[in-house]
Amino acid sequence: MALRPLFAWVLMSSHDLPAVELPSGETVPQLGQGTWRMGESARKREAEIAALRLGLDLGMTLIDTAEMYSDGVAEGIVAEAIHGRRDDCFIVTKVLPENSTRAGTIAACERSLKRLKTDRIDLYLLHWRGRPGLEETLAGFEALISSGAIRYWGVSNFDVGDMAELLALPGGTACASNQVLYNLRRRGIEAGLLPWCRGRGIPIMAYSPIEQGRLLHDRVLTAVAIRHRATPAQIALAWVLRQRDMMVIPKAASEAHVRENRAALDIALTEQDLGELNRAFPPPKGPRPLELL
Ligand SMILES: NC(=O)c1ccc[n+]([C@@H]2O[C@H](COP(=O)([O-])OP(=O)(O)OC[C@H]3O[C@@H](n4cnc5c(N)ncnc54)[C@H](OP(=O)(O)O)[C@@H]3O)[C@@H](O)[C@H]2O)c1
Repeated sequence: MALRPLFAWVLMSSHDLPAVELPSGETVPQLGQGTWRMGESARKREAEIAALRLGLDLGMTLIDTAEMYSDGVAEGIVAEAIHGRRDDCFIVTKVLPENSTRAGTIAACERSLKRLKTDRIDLYLLHWRGRPGLEETLAGFEALISSGAIRYWGVSNFDVGDMAELLALPGGTACASNQVLYNLRRRGIEAGLLPWCRGRGIPIMAYSPIEQGRLLHDRVLTAVAIRHRATPAQIALAWVLRQRDMMVIPKAASEAHVRENRAALDIALTEQDLGELNRAFPPPKGPRPLELL
């Protein structure tokens, strides 16, 4: 598969990535970097750090991680990748539901800060809903904001009902983002959660935008990619990225993948492309429960 011509990504290598506005008005780069499965193999550690660093060089300064990923090892990899350039980065990490009482959230955040070797987390998410009441987690988030340990808080894998419950709580409207599964094959949010969040100014952060690589051999995606002298991964990303109010966090552990993903921002899908992709990956006919990975 031919890559986009070299001149295309050189032009893209300046730092002016499209940005997404958080409810506070602060902006973050639309295209970031995921870290799930990083840290699982010591042998891959240096390559993973190098990939994240290259992503930072290319302007993908939004990095998503979680205390869950490799039991905290992924946060350690992020710490190494951002060493010396913390102020340029926007770091997102997540508390596990089983830790999400008020005290548990604060303790989990302190552990994450140590692993990340930083004094603050830019956006701290509840990974998915757990048993502790949302008001407990919210109290933890608010204490962490007051102490300066986190700058914003948000949620992940919250469907419309969860979001409505959250926003009805005192302080709930401060939610800065909802990170959910979204890609060509997982379009359910278009019929409910996406317009709901848009209507309330809460940006979506799309995870698994290339369906963990399972989209790569699709026939239609490949045909569109060939027309653009791009790869199927780039077309899958360009399809999500064309919605400029959505953050997108592909995970790439090789420098080649990072360069490709960065260049996906430069691909403008045509009406013909979108029509073919819509037929191959139809939008939802009506609301359906949020899918998770
Ligand atoms: N909140 C949640 O519950 C949740 C759930 C899932 C994911 N996430 C977050 O979202 C991030 C992204 O999702 P994900 O990791 O599940 O899946 P993904 O980003 O859709 O796919 C990652 C896979 O695609 C491969 N890949 C990346 N760029 C490629 C390219 N240009 N060409 C070919 N293959 C490419 C990667 O390979 P290499 O690694 O070899 O480069 C990896 O195997 C995660 O890392 C995590 O930070 C959050």
